[in-house]
Amino acid sequence: MRIHAIRPSLALGALALLVAALPASAANLLPHLEERGQATQLMVDGRPYLMLAGEATNTAASDPTFMERVWPRLARMHLNTVLVGLGWDWIEPTPGHFDFSLVDDALAGARKNHLHVVFLWFGSWKNGLSSFAPAWVKADEARYPRVRIKGGKAIEVLSTFSDANRDADARAYGALMRHLKEVDGSQHTVIMMQMENEVGVLGDSRDRSPAADAAFAGDVPAALMNYLEQHQDRLEPALVKLWQGAGEKSSGTWQQVFGSTPATDEIFMAWHYARYMNHVAAAGKAEYPLPVYTNTWIVQPGDNGPGDFPSGGPEPLVLDVWKAGAPSINLNAPDIYLPDFATWCARFHRYNNPLFVPESRGNPGDAYFVFGHHDGIGYSPFAIDVAGRFARPRPGGGAPVPTKPEDLPLPRAYAVLGRLAPVILQHQTTGTIDAVLLDKQHPTDHVKLGGYILNVGLRTNRRMPSLGASSGYGLFIAMGPDQFLVSGSDIQVTFTPNTPGPAIAGLARVEKGTYIDGRWKTERRMNGDDVLLDYKLAQAAAENQSGSGLRFGPGAPTIQRVWLYRYD
Ligand code: DGJ
Repeated sequence: MRIHAIRPSLALGALALLVAALPASAANLLPHLEERGQATQLMVDGRPYLMLAGEATNTAASDPTFMERVWPRLARMHLNTVLVGLGWDWIEPTPGHFDFSLVDDALAGARKNHLHVVFLWFGSWKNGLSSFAPAWVKADEARYPRVRIKGGKAIEVLSTFSDANRDADARAYGALMRHLKEVDGSQHTVIMMQMENEVGVLGDSRDRSPAADAAFAGDVPAALMNYLEQHQDRLEPALVKLWQGAGEKSSGTWQQVFGSTPATDEIFMAWHYARYMNHVAAAGKAEYPLPVYTNTWIVQPGDNGPGDFPSGGPEPLVLDVWKAGAPSINLNAPDIYLPDFATWCARFHRYNNPLFVPESRGNPGDAYFVFGHHDGIGYSPFAIDVAGRFARPRPGGGAPVPTKPEDLPLPRAYAVLGRLAPVILQHQTTGTIDAVLLDKQHPTDHVKLGGYILNVGLRTNRRMPSLGASSGYGLFIAMGPDQFLVSGSDIQVTFTPNTPGPAIAGLARVEKGTYIDGRWKTERRMNGDDVLLDYKLAQAAAENQSGSGLRFGPGAPTIQRVWLYRYD
C-alpha cells in the first residue's frame, strides 16, 4: 500500500536528533529507522533489514536452561530475530541493585545462533497489569500508587499519575539500556526495544485515583491541543468526529473538548500512558538510542468499551494522541490474533507509523502481506519457543504434521522471504511491490503494478474444482518493463496491460527459481501444464486473456519470474 506525502514523524525526528549526537560512523551503524524513498525501513549495521521474527513466551528468558535448547531450534526455523521478554523484577530485585545475568544469557544464546534480539521491557505494565514490577514496588502502595476504579478499589495496575512510579521504571530501564550499550554497543545483537506490553486500564474506562480525578477535571494540555490543530487534516476520523461533535474547541476540560462518553476517558488515559512511557523511553535513549515501539491489545469482538480492552493503549482511535505525547517512541504496533488481519494492518500503517506486527498467529501469508502490501519492517508470531505450536494439522486432516521445525509452514515461508529480503527491501523504497491475501470470502484481487493489472485468484483445479485452494497469498514485484517476480502459495495470476498498446499479455518466458546471495538462480523453465489455466481460448481472448498465467501450488511458497509480451 502506498502512503504518499510522508512527513517525518516527531518520533523519527527525535531519534534523528539523538543519532546526530553520535560520531557519523557509529550513528549510521546503530540500529535505527530511516525513511528511504517510499518506505521507512529498519537499518541494522548500515543496511535495511526485514525482521523475520518470533516472540518467545513471557517468561522463557528467565529459564536459560530451557532457552539453551530453544535458540538453535529458532535458528533452524529461519528466524533472524527473536522477541524476548525481560521482567523488571528479574533485573532489579532490590531497589538500585541490578542483575543483568538473564540479559547476558539471552545475548549469548542469540549470538551463538546468529540471531538478533528485540527485548520486551515488562516494566510498569504487562497486558495492562503490573505483575512484572519488583515486589518492593508492588508491596509499597503508598509510595508506588495504583489505579483506582469505580467504587474506590485499587487494582494491580500502577497508576500513570505518579512521578515515583514513572521515575522508578525509568531508572531501571535506563540502567538496562546503559548495560546494553556496554555489552552490545559494538555488536548490535539487540536491534529494537518494546516499551512495556499492551498497556491500558482494565476493569474501568479510566483511573479514578484522586490524582487522576484532579487531572481529569483540568484542561486538556496545550501540547495535545496544538498537535491536534496542527495535524487536523491527517487525524484519525473517529477522533475528529468526537472533537467536532463536542464543538471543535481549542481548549477546555477533557469532557468539554471530546464529549462525555467513555471514549473521552480512553483519550485521557492515552495521553497519560504516552507521557509516562515517553519519559521511560527517553531515559533509555539517553543511555543508548535504540528504536522503541509499543504493542497494542486491540479491541476484541464483544468488547463494550474501554476497560474491556486496556483503556488508553495505542488503539487506532488514539494513535494521534500517542504521537503527540510520546515522540521518543518510534512506532506503535498491533498484536493481531483476529482473523481480519488485513484490516488491522491498514489501521496501524499510517504516514507516521510504519508497520511491525510483533504478535500474531504465524500464518505465512500474513508475513508476506506485511512486507509486500505495507512495506512492513517485521512480522512475528507469539510463542515461537513452544515446540509444535505451529504444527497443527490443517482442518479436515490433510498432509502429515512435519516433525522437523524447519519444515513447519512459517519457517518454510521465512526461508523464502530470507532469500528474497534484499529484493523486497529495494522495491519497498520504490513502491514497486505489493501483496494480497485471499480466502473463500475474498477469492480474487487485482494489483496495479508496473504498467499491468495483476489478476490474482485462488488456485483452481481444472478437472476437480472441489480440490481448488481455500486460502492463498502472493507477493508481487515489478522487476522492470514487462517483467515481474511473484512469490506465493495456492494462487494463480494473469496479467492485463494497463498502458496504451496491444490489449493481451502473453507469457514470453517463465522461470521458477530462487535467490542465492542476492542473485537469481533459475531452477526450472515453466511451461505447459505449469502455466495453462484454461483451454477455452475463445472465451479467454474475448476477455483479453491468453488463457495462461502463473500457478502456485499448495504448501511452502515458491518464487517465479515472468517476462511478458503483448499482442492483439
Ligand atoms: C498478548 C500478550 O502481549 C502476550 O505477552 C501474551 O500474554 C499473549 N497475549 C497470550 O496470548
